[in-house]
Amino acid sequence: MSRSPLLFPSLAIFVALLAFSLRQYSLRRQQQLLKLWNIEDLALYNGTYDDGSPILLGILGSVFDVTKGRSHYGPGGGYHHFAGRDASRAFVSGNFTGDGLTDSLHGLSSVEVKSVVDWRDFYNRSYIYAGKVVGRYYDSHGKPTKYLKGVEAKAARGSQLLEKQKKEEAKLPDCNSRWSQQEGGEVWCETGYPRLVQKPLEIALTGKMRRRCACFKEEELTQSGLELYQDCGYLSKVCPVN
Ligand SMILES: *[C@@H]1O[C@H](CO)[C@@H](O)[C@H](O)[C@H]1NC(C)=O
Ligand SMILES: *[C@@H]1O[C@H](CO)[C@@H](O)[C@H](O)[C@H]1NC(C)=O
Ligand SMILES: *[C@@H]1O[C@H](CO)[C@@H](O)[C@H](O)[C@H]1NC(C)=O
Repeated sequence: MSRSPLLFPSLAIFVALLAFSLRQYSLRRQQQLLKLWNIEDLALYNGTYDDGSPILLGILGSVFDVTKGRSHYGPGGGYHHFAGRDASRAFVSGNFTGDGLTDSLHGLSSVEVKSVVDWRDFYNRSYIYAGKVVGRYYDSHGKPTKYLKGVEAKAARGSQLLEKQKKEEAKLPDCNSRWSQQEGGEVWCETGYPRLVQKPLEIALTGKMRRRCACFKEEELTQSGLELYQDCGYLSKVCPVN
């Protein structure tokens, strides 16, 4: 049996080429990872012109290449406001006008801050990382600022609070509920009696008051903070809601 004498040399060349292009690729990746953006340069990658240049988005000072989502991030897309800038705050505020498009998270609750961090993690999973913005979140050496560390810490607190709230809520069963056009709405309990109660930790979490319907045993009904539904008897198992 004879083999082509050319097989080994061409294999060697192929391997060498492959190694070379892999190296080029990883060099390019590294350059991207190390890239530090200033706000003015980032602004040029807003997707306005479909001229082959990437569309970039900043969040918490991390830059992502969102070109593959051009229909969303390009002109006319629902997320076009996010292109070419870091508008971290708008991910939770939904305010895309004027100063709403800021990277400042000042005054947001820990849960809102956590939600922005979740968005960054989403971009990190779904799009190509393309460097850092020098400014609020990273310094000119690309090191995380105090502000970023503060944001991460606040998000971690938000996450703990949410866990705790889930556990607290699980101690009290939810009411059942239904609603229909003809009959309106009602809540009811299989065991226990429906009462309105402040959601645990909600003020710490969101700065807002929110209530839920939970089922209480008869001996628990005297505890403070429970509100009987309007038009509902003290020991009714079913209460109308409007
Ligand atoms: C969007 O990018 C283009 C260049 O790609 C630039 O001319 C324009 O000023 C940018 N728009 C904003 C609002 O920065
Ligand atoms: C959006 O933010 C700007 C600047 O903070 C503010 O003036 C405006 O009232 C906000 N709009 C909404 C709808 O919240
Ligand atoms: C993105 O994910 C990688 C891999 O999990 C992680 O090492 C990196 O720190 C993340 N980057 C950001 C900006 O979250």
